[in-house]
Amino acid sequence: MAQFNLPEPQPDPLLQLIGKYRADTRPDKIDLGVGVYRDDHGNTPVLAAVKAAENKLQQEQQSKSYLGLTGDNEFVEQLGTLLFNDATIALGAQTPGGSGALRLAAEIYNIAHPQGTLWIGTPTWPNHLPLTESAGVKTATFDYFDKDTQQIMFDSSLEAIDNAKAGDAIILHGCCHNPTGADLTPEQWQQLVSLLVEKNIIPIVDLAYHGLGDGLEDDLAATRLITTQCEEVLVAASCSKNFGLYRDRTGAVYMTSHEKSTATRAQAVFGQIARKIYSMPPDHGAAVVRLILQDSTLKKQWHDELKTMTERVKSLRQSIAERFEVLEFVTRQKGMFSLLPLSPVQVNSLIEDHAVYLAGDGRINVAGCQLDQIERFVTSLEAVGFTGPQ
Ligand SMILES: Cc1ncc(COP(=O)(O)O)c(C=O)c1O
Repeated sequence: MAQFNLPEPQPDPLLQLIGKYRADTRPDKIDLGVGVYRDDHGNTPVLAAVKAAENKLQQEQQSKSYLGLTGDNEFVEQLGTLLFNDATIALGAQTPGGSGALRLAAEIYNIAHPQGTLWIGTPTWPNHLPLTESAGVKTATFDYFDKDTQQIMFDSSLEAIDNAKAGDAIILHGCCHNPTGADLTPEQWQQLVSLLVEKNIIPIVDLAYHGLGDGLEDDLAATRLITTQCEEVLVAASCSKNFGLYRDRTGAVYMTSHEKSTATRAQAVFGQIARKIYSMPPDHGAAVVRLILQDSTLKKQWHDELKTMTERVKSLRQSIAERFEVLEFVTRQKGMFSLLPLSPVQVNSLIEDHAVYLAGDGRINVAGCQLDQIERFVTSLEAVGFTGPQ
């Protein structure tokens, strides 16, 4: 008799979509589903700065002995210097990707606030809910964005914060909102942050696409505003997209605090939580990022490569909107994603009848579109009766 009575595994719709795309033999298929950066040849290349740092690492690394529970502390410090204002006290731990950082953020929040609720605006990255709930955190959702009108539902965000109790937490996409590309204006951020401070709500900032919207400085402005004004903030940073290190699982979690002792304690607790899950994070990607950030030439090379990626995404948004005016809204959205107001029937027809692959909710990865595919993408949208926002 079977000893393991396991539930039926729930297939991941995005992974299923990737499999379906790979199996599709139509030569003109278009992949707007997967959430990775693509260049104009449809590749996700290793950055030259990363290659150079990898070579350096291979030459210089003397040992692969354990580092410690918080991983490569110099990486954490260098990345923190990139992310935060000079005066911000930010201490943390290296993590397996942004996902590992979010998990540690959820775990530490649950330790400090076991009765608290974590508020999440929807639509959001589909892993936010399972990832935080599996840390034992109680979650609640509010409406962030209306796909049909392509408008941020700012009033409902404020209302949710207003109804939250002191010590509750909220996930905020630091920039380049996934899946909508719709970020708050600087004025809206200020209004929201003031309310967070007034209501004693703890922000958990998810930074996964910084640099890919309007450039690093602009993309980090909201995070810096939040970490300056809120007493304590958890920040989950991923190096997957902006360093192209997806499979190397590179990220960091930080607690920023107005009190050094709080951040110091949090750093130790991050290590203790990691010990119970995976002990120590994988080294390679963090060592690569550290080498890049420590070396002014490599750092400049990385900045230039990041800028090329950002400009490609921006110019694609522009070209798509120029070809089909009802898509004008995509030029106002940031980062790789937009959430098109398409019905499930239209999405299905795009995939089945036109070989245009996109997520079931209508999310497209703009970077997945090559310049010479825009025409076919737009005519396919027209063919399924896409008429733009209401
Ligand atoms: C919004 C958001 N947060 C976090 C992550 C986690 O990234 P990773 O764990 O690959 O570094 C992703 C990845 O797609 C994301 O889109």
